[in-house]
Formats: sequence, C-alpha cells, structure tokens
Amino acid sequence: MSIYDEIGGADAVNAAVDIFYTKVLADPLLKPFFENVQMDGQSRKQKAFFTTIFKGDTAGADAYMRKAHTGMKISDEEFGAVAGHLNATLEELNVPAHLVEQIMGAAGGLKDAVQNR
Ligand code: HEM
Repeated sequence: MSIYDEIGGADAVNAAVDIFYTKVLADPLLKPFFENVQMDGQSRKQKAFFTTIFKGDTAGADAYMRKAHTGMKISDEEFGAVAGHLNATLEELNVPAHLVEQIMGAAGGLKDAVQNR
C-alpha cells in the first residue's frame, strides 16, 4: 500500500497541507518567504505534489523542487523549521509513527534540491 493510501488519501493530504501552511505562516522566520505568494495556489500545488510523491512517483521531484525554490537562498535553519512544521502537523493528525518517519525521510531527501545545493 502506498503512503497515500495508508495516511487516508485525499482527505488526509488536504488536512495536512492546510494545517502545515497555517503553521508556516505563523512562524516569523518563514512568513516573509510567502509575503507575495498566493496561498490558495500554493496549497493546491503542495497538495498535488504530496499526492504524487505519497503515491510513490518520485521521478522528477528533485528537479521540480530545485526549480521551485531557485534564488530563495533557504538556510539550514529555515529548511529545518519547515520540516519541523510538517512533522508537527503529521503528529497532530495522528499519522502513525512509521509513516511520519517515511514522510520526513522523503522531505529530508529533498533538502539539497530545495536549498539549490
Ligand atoms: C521538503 C520541503 C519542501 C517542499 C516539499 C516544498 C514544496 C513546494 C512546492 C510543491 C511548491 C510549489 C511549486 C510550484 O510553483 O509549482 C513550493 C513553492 C514554494 N516554496 Fe517550498 N517546499 C519545501 C521547502 C520550502 C522551504 C524550506 C521554504 C522557505 C523557507 C519554501 C518556500 C517556498 C516558497 C516561497 C514557494 C512559492 C514560490 C512562488 O510561487 O513564488 N519551501 N514549495
């Protein structure tokens, strides 16, 4: 079974992304990044991206993340803060620990791409 099915499909992904961006925007370290970003579209894209990778289709994820974050100069601290909000979101939604571990592993695997390294 894919991570997507295990966490509960579209409803779970939608709930996670909504809570995740509420946390990100409430974080003074991260808020400035999203000042000029249309959050409806951003949430939609994030839901689509999580759906794709949670279904196991990771081809192209690296290149997409690299391109999406070009020029943002995201620091380790900023990446860590975003990852922390994702982790807290999944725990809040009572996602089982083994899935949280897999998802956080996948997010960590995208770190260099997100930071354009
Ligand atoms: C593994 C971690 C991350 C994932 C999976 C992720 C995912 C995404 C996705 C799917 C998009 C939409 C790209 C598109 O336009 O199609 C995006 C855009 C964006 N991300 Fe990330 N992101 C991550 C980390 C971060 C971090 C650490 C920051 C800042 C500290 C950040 C800031 C942004 C911003 C500001 C945009 C909007 C760009 C724009 O539309 O102008 N992201 N991200």
